[in-house]
Amino acid sequence: MKKFTNVNKAVFPVAGLGTRFLPATKAQPKEMLPVVDKPLIQYAVEEAYDAGIRHMIFVTGRNKRAIEDHFDTAYELETELEASGKKELLDLVRSLSPADMDCSYVRQPRSLGLGHAVLCARHIVNDEPFAVLLADDLMCGPDNGPGVLTQMVEVFKEVQTSVLAVQEVPADHVKRYGIVAGDKVGDRLVKIKQMVEKPSPDKAPSRLGVAGRYVLTPEVFDRIANQTRGSGGEIQLTDGIAQLIGTEGVHAYMYEGKRYDCGSKDGFLEASVAFALKHPEVGPAFREYLRGLKIS
Ligand code: G1P
Repeated sequence: MKKFTNVNKAVFPVAGLGTRFLPATKAQPKEMLPVVDKPLIQYAVEEAYDAGIRHMIFVTGRNKRAIEDHFDTAYELETELEASGKKELLDLVRSLSPADMDCSYVRQPRSLGLGHAVLCARHIVNDEPFAVLLADDLMCGPDNGPGVLTQMVEVFKEVQTSVLAVQEVPADHVKRYGIVAGDKVGDRLVKIKQMVEKPSPDKAPSRLGVAGRYVLTPEVFDRIANQTRGSGGEIQLTDGIAQLIGTEGVHAYMYEGKRYDCGSKDGFLEASVAFALKHPEVGPAFREYLRGLKIS
């Protein structure tokens, strides 16, 4: 088998409507909702960049132009900031699209599911391993440690199979996740034997739920292209990956760090508090503010 040495491309499925955040998402993409001062999609792109990935592929839909603009040059803004001598802000704005980063955009014309979204990027990914990042899941590596995708790329180079980020989820939450089960083959590593999308609690083979980070081999494209619709009548990424279990093999990696489910309001609020407390500019004052709150 060909030896994979690096992961150079990341796919960001961002075509979803974000109905759980209406009315905020009526006229703006949910991926542009900010946690403190950064939109969700930027956290995901930075995580991929930190993992050594330089080609970002966004699978977008209608009303998602703000994402393209966010990673493009903003001439008027940059000219204004330059003229008014706001160098720090200018550097900040420019740092969003480093010179060595490429962005590609492809449309998902119909909402047929996550597997279908990933398949829309096939002609740009081609025959290479690639990462998939769901921006709704805001992932935090350990303090001063590597990001979650960085950890996964290391594992991928070692195991040479697709790698999925997993964590234990409460029994009554299994129906929200892709659930995997298998044999423990390392401290944080499971060789997957079974994988099912959003099972009911009585059908779940374990409580290991897939978080929105994947490193996949290109073989998955053929599997997705040839599968029937799954859970919710959608073309599921989980089903495509499940077909690799008996051939190439697939590993689940219990990542080190924390996941905030920013696709839900409570997860989004938790992330906002956690990131605000860590923020160099507002963190100390915000901590004081929280301490002084008299919450009954
Ligand atoms: C998707 C995947 C699911 C995964 C989840 C992680 O579901 O289909 O397997 O566990 O992301 O966030 P969604 O949350 O888009 O319904």
